Amino acid sequence: MIQPDKYILSASILAADFSNLSNNIKDLKKFGCKEIHYDVMDGEFVEEISMGPIILNSIKKHIDLPVDVHLMVKNPEKNVEQFSKLNVEVITFHYESTNDHKSIIELIKSKNIKVGVAINPSTNVEKIFDYIESIDRVLVMCVNPGFSGQKFHEESLIKVSKIRNFIDNNLSSFIDIGVDGGVNKLNIQDCLNAGANIFVSGSSIFWNGDVKSNIMSLQKSLEGKK
Ligand code: DX5
Ligand code: ZN
Repeated sequence: MIQPDKYILSASILAADFSNLSNNIKDLKKFGCKEIHYDVMDGEFVEEISMGPIILNSIKKHIDLPVDVHLMVKNPEKNVEQFSKLNVEVITFHYESTNDHKSIIELIKSKNIKVGVAINPSTNVEKIFDYIESIDRVLVMCVNPGFSGQKFHEESLIKVSKIRNFIDNNLSSFIDIGVDGGVNKLNIQDCLNAGANIFVSGSSIFWNGDVKSNIMSLQKSLEGKK
């Protein structure tokens, strides 16, 4: 069982107020977030277009937290090259975005950046088992990617358990499992119990109330407190 001090709360800034971005993000570390989740959408892999390297470059000057770049883009090679120049800690690409998973994994690793692979709700977990040992994290999408504020798909919990069981039973090293999409104070502990240890949250951190109490409330739920 994963102990609470090992979990990572990752703030998806796609849900932040971009007219007040520096205020929204400046205290995330102080409040207990351990990572920034940076959603990149190209208008092709998903309909929306979100943020590119220029905005991340400017944000990085104001935050002292590791960054996971979540690439929701077709043919991610080009974006891997761009984001690798910004000293990011993790680059996560989508299983569904390419046919050449091994090359992208090698490309990200060659930049000394951790590799994440995201899987959409309709993708079977078994698809990634062939090369799971060569990556650092799996990101289980609990909504169809595209925007913040969607409802959590309950079936995602089964997928997380299957992946955690596969890792525990077949691999010698721990691999992170993240959940992304619709994660809130009501389901975050279920995600932990299923085997996730990284919790990406957008609207539950930024949308209603203040950022500090929203983060505290997610942390309390993770630790099983009311
Ligand atoms: C969805 C994005 C998520 C999203 C999460 O396509 O990948 O990271 O911003 O936001 P919430 O937590 O509101 O679902
Ligand atoms: Zn994301």
